[in-house]
Amino acid sequence: MSVQPAATRPEGLDQPPSRLAAEVARRRTFAIISHPDAGKTTLTEKLLLYGGAIHLAGTVKARRQTRHATSDWMELERERGISVTSSVMQFDYEGIRLNLLDTPGHQDFSEDTYRTLMAADSAIMLLDNRKGVEERTRQLFDVCRLRRVPIVTFVNKCDRPGTDPLTLISEVERDLGLHCHAMTWPIFASSGLIGVYDRRTERVMLFDRTSDHGASRATSTDMALDDPAFANLVGSATFDQLLDDIALLDEASHPFDLTAVQAGELTPVYFGSALTNFAVEPFLHDFLRFAPAPGIRTSSAGPIPPDRPDFSGFVFKIQANMDPKHRDRIAFVRICSGKFEAGLDVTNTRTGKRIRLAAPQQFLARERTQTDEAWSGDVVGVLDRGTLRIGDTLAEDPAIKFEGIPRFAPEHFARVVPADPLRRKQLDSGLRDLSEEGAAQVFYVDGMSGSAPILGAIGRLQFDVMVHRLEREYNAPCRLEPMVYGHPRWMTGPRDAIEQAGNGRGRLLVYDAKGAPVILFENSSSLWAAQQHEKGLTFHEVAP
Ligand code: G4P
Repeated sequence: MSVQPAATRPEGLDQPPSRLAAEVARRRTFAIISHPDAGKTTLTEKLLLYGGAIHLAGTVKARRQTRHATSDWMELERERGISVTSSVMQFDYEGIRLNLLDTPGHQDFSEDTYRTLMAADSAIMLLDNRKGVEERTRQLFDVCRLRRVPIVTFVNKCDRPGTDPLTLISEVERDLGLHCHAMTWPIFASSGLIGVYDRRTERVMLFDRTSDHGASRATSTDMALDDPAFANLVGSATFDQLLDDIALLDEASHPFDLTAVQAGELTPVYFGSALTNFAVEPFLHDFLRFAPAPGIRTSSAGPIPPDRPDFSGFVFKIQANMDPKHRDRIAFVRICSGKFEAGLDVTNTRTGKRIRLAAPQQFLARERTQTDEAWSGDVVGVLDRGTLRIGDTLAEDPAIKFEGIPRFAPEHFARVVPADPLRRKQLDSGLRDLSEEGAAQVFYVDGMSGSAPILGAIGRLQFDVMVHRLEREYNAPCRLEPMVYGHPRWMTGPRDAIEQAGNGRGRLLVYDAKGAPVILFENSSSLWAAQQHEKGLTFHEVAP
């Protein structure tokens, strides 16, 4: 789903901007892409702190821990030290409404993260100053590049020694093929990071270390680079080093170009430390300048501008039993046009069915509240009674269908063995709910949901989550028997030829949740052999 910059109207030809246009213009919907441990949770907290959504950093983590005590499957997150869920946080900063889409931290949940990135208009790339671009960041970056999502980079943990900043920047350029422009530059003294230089304003910002370890906002002193007081304060060694660095940057680095930033070709780079709050606020301030407001989305009915008055949006995530007390399903909808308020009548354009939407749900961390209205660009939760699927378009105009969200082929398969055969009904209902949510994919050997179910997952941790949730949420304990098969291929062609092809050695014919035939192969050679032999059939890597 490609995103184009928001449409601009010819000046003077139009009435004053409508409330909708004004709301769209002040929205920024973004995600943070990083490798686990780079400091995403810490930075998220600091953004919430500066946005006034929390008053003391430490609350998100603390709240996460309190919630763990009451919510069972978050217990699994705590046991494993991973973040499985993703949510959205909404807060205001300098009159801008930010929607921060949080993504699961572990690579086994990458499909969930990919879907979430489809709902974002920009991204913060967070790097550890010792590690630069790590594997997971690279994968997420690839998704952003595909959609030409603008990226602003924050090099974190600069409060402790790391890779030389110039080396780090050239590594990013080489590893990702992404041009960098350093917007700020770290100033190091013998005691470590003391401030940053802003290349645009030619001013320096020197930070005061707070005694509360970054729980509250950082205070700073701001002065011109050529203010003699600055050179006196930092000493000649630090001052000369900074001047050398600046000269080198001016000479050798890519010039700043806003169009290239908004096309995802150049990333502005900032240095700082989320833990101590150093340089977080100036970063946030600038990020809002570079992150685009919601843009035009492509659909089957043509381009949909965000300020089009009728409502449209798409479901990018479904989460069952978010609140164990209520046993409900929430579909996360990215609004692409119009306004959402309670009682809105929309069509699910996949099924053609009309749905009346209840009050939209909004989120802060994992708390959710009802809200009266939401606008294009926002992400809201919609209570789902089991009729919505990931990728569905909800729109007032039934002709609108946004491009689908790509699915990924599972790499691991396991047979589900119920611990108690009498609880088969609960097991089937859990499998249905959780697969619709996208937690894993379900297959059946004989195409009937009564037969032994098989789970397919991209990462093995998804299996653990499934077993845990089937037991806790559906009271359907089971164990999984890993299978030797991988390399699934969705098959199209004459039915009897598919059945015959599925009988060969090293192959297993199964059916996905929609009844489509899929052959699982033991290894790449058995797949290759089948492709050579079965000329009348088409092999698809994902469901066609
Ligand atoms: P994640 O969500 O990306 O996985 O990272 P998280 O924020 O949990 O941070 C990972 C570790 O890095 C944490 O340390 C955190 O305190 C530390 N960290 C984050 N930002 C900075 C920074 O700017 N400077 C330094 N020096 N460290 C930083 P931990 O010991 O694993 O956890 P904790 O006990 O501090 O919670």
